[in-house]
Amino acid sequence: MADRLYAELGLSNTREMFKKAMAGGYAIPAYNFNNLEQLQAIIGGCAESRSPVILQVSSGARKYANQTLLRYMAKGAVEMCRKELKSEIPIALHLDHGDTFELCKSCVEYGFSSVMIDGSHHSYEKNVELTAQVVEYAHKYDVTVEGELGVLAGIEDDVKAEVSHYTDPNQVEDFVKKTGVDSLAISIGTSHGAYKFKCKPGEVPPLRFDILDEIEKRLPGFPIVLHGASSVLQEYVAMINQYGGRMENAVGVPEEQLRRAAKSAVCKINIDSDGRLVVTAIVRKMLAENPAEFDPRKYLGAAREELKKMIIAKNTNVLGSAGQG
Ligand code: G3H
Ligand code: 13P
Ligand code: ZN
Repeated sequence: MADRLYAELGLSNTREMFKKAMAGGYAIPAYNFNNLEQLQAIIGGCAESRSPVILQVSSGARKYANQTLLRYMAKGAVEMCRKELKSEIPIALHLDHGDTFELCKSCVEYGFSSVMIDGSHHSYEKNVELTAQVVEYAHKYDVTVEGELGVLAGIEDDVKAEVSHYTDPNQVEDFVKKTGVDSLAISIGTSHGAYKFKCKPGEVPPLRFDILDEIEKRLPGFPIVLHGASSVLQEYVAMINQYGGRMENAVGVPEEQLRRAAKSAVCKINIDSDGRLVVTAIVRKMLAENPAEFDPRKYLGAAREELKKMIIAKNTNVLGSAGQG
């Protein structure tokens, strides 16, 4: 094996995290971040609740924050966590929805400890080929790889009707065997963003736990990943609407369904939209209530504090990862 490039940043890959999560019946949170305040809130919240954490970066986030700056933000976050917060929680840096071999390779070189290659929009054969290529490269550096089978429903799609988007359990064994992936993202009816289902808040969304059960049977003990897992917390949607925003019929995955997933083979739960909602809600409220304020530290600092609280609550009450770091 070549050098573990990610070790220079003090990071861990996801192998050991997933093994423990599987045995302990909980899920590791994968929180997306794009900026300093989100990163501070994630590390602060996970250190305080003693939760292992996956810092997740999309290709859009990498462009937004700059690839070099991101590398040192991650390094700095680990160092802050160890030296100042006195916490030894495992921290992974993961590429979310990588779409090309070149992007995954670049992230490995910049110190990511885990990458996702999302070939789910390609044919099955092309997905296998692309994923296997990324695995072969990443494993040389001990970087773990997440693949995806099945396409997450788009925001406009009616999840109930789009049966063809779900992961086909008949493909999972073959995919894992041929590609060598370390974890598998599946589609059971969740989708990205704040408008996941056509049902009203309070109604139970039609997630296909039967597909998850079937996948677990085919791949016993294998780590499964759930994307599109924000709950779209209604208190923040209401706050956004109260302070000048307009988000109608925003609906997410109920916490009860996430608790059920976390106890199963789902070892990684992806959360981006809930973080966005918290920040937007608090910034809107702060600016509306303090029209003369023009110091970004005031409103971004308040958003950061609320985000940290939300993260602690998720780790503790939903994912079960609190106390496991
Ligand atoms: O999977 C989607 C994530 O929420 C990342 O979103 O591509 O807008 O950064 P983004
Ligand atoms: P949400 O939009 O539900 O937060 O999902 C995020 C995600 O899956 C990132 O890959
Ligand atoms: Zn996703």
